[in-house]
Amino acid sequence: MGEIEILINKAKLEKRIEEMGKQIQKDHEGKEIVFIGILKGSVMFMAELAKNIKSNIILDFMDVSSYEGTESTGTIKINKDIRDSIEGKDVIIVEDIIDTGRTLTYVKEYLKQKNPNSIKIATMLSKPSRRVMELQVDYIGFAIEDKFVVGYGLDYNEKYRNLPYIGYIEN
Ligand code: IMP
Ligand code: MG
Repeated sequence: MGEIEILINKAKLEKRIEEMGKQIQKDHEGKEIVFIGILKGSVMFMAELAKNIKSNIILDFMDVSSYEGTESTGTIKINKDIRDSIEGKDVIIVEDIIDTGRTLTYVKEYLKQKNPNSIKIATMLSKPSRRVMELQVDYIGFAIEDKFVVGYGLDYNEKYRNLPYIGYIEN
């Protein structure tokens, strides 16, 4: 296991999250927004994003994992569902990183069945070169190359989530 190299420092990351917050607020003027954070990776980003929005924000969470051996089918197991009804609500799914897009494709379809008024996706990071599912992503912090990243919520075997920046593991 090599050293952690900084890919996006704290100042740059938080400046971008502030911009994303302003954009989301502008796009939802006067509306209440339900943020659904995907545990655990989204928590730092979700907190920072929410602090940069003046509209009312309701926070809810889901915990999902891919079924072992069936990754290619995109079937996802729900370990924890959202708590409150989102019927008629304006929802934004908040994610740390979109890689193949399988997780959020499934989650978005699942949440659509709960009849929200609208449903969008905000992700801190995206690896576009890895995408296998066609997925509309409404707000992207940074598009990055195919590196395994950690920090600001992202982990490697549950470690490094508390790093205040995005780093990658130099092999
Ligand atoms: P997807 O279903 O392939 O889009 O996978 C997305 C999930 O994989 C994210 O929510 C992360 O939990 C995890 N993931 C993907 N890439 C990375 C990475 O570079 N570092 C840490 N976790 C990652
Ligand atoms: Mg995740």
